[in-house]
Amino acid sequence: MAFVNIQNLRKSYGDVVAVNDVSLDIEEGEFVSILGPSGSGKTTMLKSIAGFVDPTAGSIVVAGNEMIGLPPEDRNMGLVFQRLALFPHMSVFDNVAFGLRHRENLTEAEMEERVAEILEIVSLPGYEDRNIQNLSGGEQQRVALARVLVLEPDLLLYDEPLSDLDRQLREQMRREIKDLHDRLEITSIYVTHNQREALTLSDRVLVLHEGEKVRYAPPSEIYQDPQSKFVANFVGDSNFVSVTKGQNGTVTFEDDDISLPMHEADADAPTDLLYIRPEDITINPSDGDRVFSGTVRSTVHLGSVTEYKIEVGGNEFLTTDLGAPKYTKGDSVTVQFEDYGLVEA
Ligand SMILES: Nc1ncnc2c1ncn2[C@@H]1O[C@H](COP(=O)(O)OP(=O)(O)OP(=O)(O)O)[C@@H](O)[C@H]1O
Ligand SMILES: [Mg+2]
Repeated sequence: MAFVNIQNLRKSYGDVVAVNDVSLDIEEGEFVSILGPSGSGKTTMLKSIAGFVDPTAGSIVVAGNEMIGLPPEDRNMGLVFQRLALFPHMSVFDNVAFGLRHRENLTEAEMEERVAEILEIVSLPGYEDRNIQNLSGGEQQRVALARVLVLEPDLLLYDEPLSDLDRQLREQMRREIKDLHDRLEITSIYVTHNQREALTLSDRVLVLHEGEKVRYAPPSEIYQDPQSKFVANFVGDSNFVSVTKGQNGTVTFEDDDISLPMHEADADAPTDLLYIRPEDITINPSDGDRVFSGTVRSTVHLGSVTEYKIEVGGNEFLTTDLGAPKYTKGDSVTVQFEDYGLVEA
């Protein structure tokens, strides 16, 4: 059995089904993200695992033990939330040692050693006597992590831990969480509605939609083969075009006479919706097929990339190109559809 085995987990609040029969396996040492829009049931799932929510039905087995019915403090899980709940009037040492005092019979010297080790791990060596209030947001995040790690949890649970931080700090902490996981290999579940975090941090991503599991797969698989419009839209931007499937292995745009060869994998797909990622559309390619003429409708410089809207036939396509703008509104261009696929509407 997998290290974490969740079977038919369900939680209803009156008429609202927050989590609808979700089953999930997580291997020991894996980093799994739960990704979904607001209200999709992410926090309810995490709180059920942690023991703060009583599921309506289902089972949650961790390391061979059923968790349902156990109080949170007996589950040996570490929680990191958006609101850090650090004790602001206590030192870094007292914050980190807090759980140890309640849990184990350690001497003061042993405790000091453990805290020092953990502060080293979260890159805050020698911070013991510092005051929480005088730490930066990122340093406070690391103290929150240290406080959890010092208890050596079987499972690390994160609920949007970075959403209060500014963008730069958020990116930095994301890398640190990844690095920490690579070193300590604690099985982790990370709730987020940020696809970038989910895709970059995780071994596997669970995509939730209205309480239901719509996908559970490695990031690259989800990105390259989203299978549904919901997932394609949620992990990255996509252009969608209604198409008609022809007998000869092609798809034809509904409002145009544009035809594209279909991928073999899509031959039996029971759908007539094509998705094309912005980065899979090349403007003014030097040669090749699947090239059509279009007109630039808008140009937005986003720093490292430029985003264009290009009208091709009756459709407008979002495309991205590296570097500063090369084309402006009204320019005639050609576009090449390099990659695309069919998804469920
Ligand atoms: N204690 C509660 N009582 C009633 N309904 C609840 C309760 N907790 C959650 N819900 C409902 O369950 C659904 C899922 O909520 P949940 O907090 O799990 O979503 P989420 O995916 O974490 O959203 P967000 O991204 O906004 O944090 C929502 O419709 C929410 O209103
Ligand atoms: Mg939530």
